[in-house]
Amino acid sequence: MSIVLAGRSLVLIGFMGSGKSSVGRELAKRWNFRFVDTDAMIRHKYDLSIPDIFAKYGEDFFREAEYEALARLRGIRSTVIATGGGIVIQPRNLPLLRALGPVVWLCADQGTILDRVGKSTHRPMLNQANPEESVARLLKERAPLYHRAADLRIETSGLTHREVADRIVLGLDQFRVSNESANQPRIDANGRE
Ligand code: S3P
Repeated sequence: MSIVLAGRSLVLIGFMGSGKSSVGRELAKRWNFRFVDTDAMIRHKYDLSIPDIFAKYGEDFFREAEYEALARLRGIRSTVIATGGGIVIQPRNLPLLRALGPVVWLCADQGTILDRVGKSTHRPMLNQANPEESVARLLKERAPLYHRAADLRIETSGLTHREVADRIVLGLDQFRVSNESANQPRIDANGRE
């Protein structure tokens, strides 16, 4: 387990297709942590798929369910938490995310994201007629929100899930060093501010 966690949890945020669930599972296995996915919590609660929840009740209902799922995780320790790509759009989610432990933003360039999710049929935020347009628009809207929410940014384009997990472990150590010196800015995995 990374020393910086000391029993706290690790939170993964990032756009659809950034690898939050796969990388989260990999890290949980390495650290012997539990793995939780907020989308899975919502699916189980309503016994419906995410597209069905959107179709039946709408996005606002889903966002409320997403907030409730996150609130239910309050105080959970030694867990890797993968979140839905839109978790950062509600400002009330930010303190909940940050209270759980370090928040890691998995990012990828637009082309990589399109390759990964462009043809996905279970992502209601992607307009199937024009996934390129939805990805470009949402990425532009959300990049500053991910940036604000995250302690650490990890670029995932061209990397395997294992390589991303390795980078997170390294990045967490840098994060610890930076936090041990007072007033240090938050950093990304490449050591940039
Ligand atoms: C969403 C992302 C999805 C899921 C829902 C909404 C979004 O999760 O929460 O379809 O608004 O970006 P993934 O990021 O795991 O695909």
